[in-house]
Amino acid sequence: MYCTKKINDSLIWVGANDRRLAMFEGVYSVPQGVSYNSYLMFDEKTILFDTVDKAVQERFMENLVESLDGKPLDYLILQHIEPDHSAAIKCVLNKYPDVTLVLNEKSLAFVNQFYTFDVAFKFLIVKEGDTLNTGKFTFHFVSAPMVHWPEVMVTYEETTKTLFSADAFGCFGALNGSIFADEVDFNRDYLDEARRYYTNIVGKYGAQVQSLLTKASSLDIKMICPLHGFVWRKNLHEIILPYKLWSSYDPEEKGVMIAYASVYGNTENAAELLSTYLRDMGIKTVMFDVSVTPASEIVSAAFKWSHLVFASTTYNAGIFVTMEALVCDLVAHNIQNRTIALIENGSWAVTSGKQMRSKFEQCKNITFVGDVSIKSSVSKDKLEEIKELAQKLVETLPKQTSETE
Ligand code: FEO
Repeated sequence: MYCTKKINDSLIWVGANDRRLAMFEGVYSVPQGVSYNSYLMFDEKTILFDTVDKAVQERFMENLVESLDGKPLDYLILQHIEPDHSAAIKCVLNKYPDVTLVLNEKSLAFVNQFYTFDVAFKFLIVKEGDTLNTGKFTFHFVSAPMVHWPEVMVTYEETTKTLFSADAFGCFGALNGSIFADEVDFNRDYLDEARRYYTNIVGKYGAQVQSLLTKASSLDIKMICPLHGFVWRKNLHEIILPYKLWSSYDPEEKGVMIAYASVYGNTENAAELLSTYLRDMGIKTVMFDVSVTPASEIVSAAFKWSHLVFASTTYNAGIFVTMEALVCDLVAHNIQNRTIALIENGSWAVTSGKQMRSKFEQCKNITFVGDVSIKSSVSKDKLEEIKELAQKLVETLPKQTSETE
């Protein structure tokens, strides 16, 4: 049965939720599910914004057909061709063969790369600065390359002052009957998932996100409709300000994130001793076992915290496998502006610290404050070195009260 949400008299959410997906994009766990947002706008013409993932296309089509209620579909504006938003194009074309796809040149190429069509479809190529008038509404197309793919564009409707923002300002988590961010306690229940979504999906492209934010700042925006997560109609700063911060790569919190990879518990012991000494000195810490916590959560935490410690055993003459994956992930996501300390362990040919360091040396504005090298387990003399490492970290942090973390 169709399940839609009215946003206002001219706009309906016709998307769908997926709560069974194990791994979004094959790599990001989504324990609270994910929404694929599609929006149908009514004017003298009818306008659909994007489609949905193939997993939920049946519900989406029910929503679309019910909402159109026999009216033709005139335009399908395609802002992003990643298949979680474009997979249902063929379903739409089968049902509404006269619809005109509105997209840019790169998107048209991507559509033809991903899909084959039995019959030709109508399309209208648009570019940055072009407009489309549908009666009382005028849509402005704004290119947003690499937020998250090169073809991405966002669309601003000037009468309703609505920004259809593609992946930008999205969030993991299914919409459980609500549609607006102000219907939930966003900061308490969803900010962490919004950060995890941002950092893992577009964290690499901070400069491009900043470019989009600059373009958006010249628009009078009253509502933001992203392709995942909630629609923003109030307190837009609650999502825009975090995006400004995250895309600048500046940390949100002063404190130490400790990620460790430990085979027999001795590297964990070193990490825990460091965390204990830091806590004793009033510093906030968080700890992650990289073999247990999904990498996407640790990437998100690394964007949040100012100081990062990586502790890894040596494995196959290199970094332990789960830690190596995490470090490569962080480097690939352009982590920068951080203070980093390293702990290595191994019983012979200890090399993980040196190798982690060489990977982080590829990143911008990283300050290394110290290293500790352990042989198999923490010996008494190493306790002093771990204390000294804690002291070095503290010297670069303001005094804190740590009871809340
Ligand atoms: Fe939600 Fe980049 O697709």
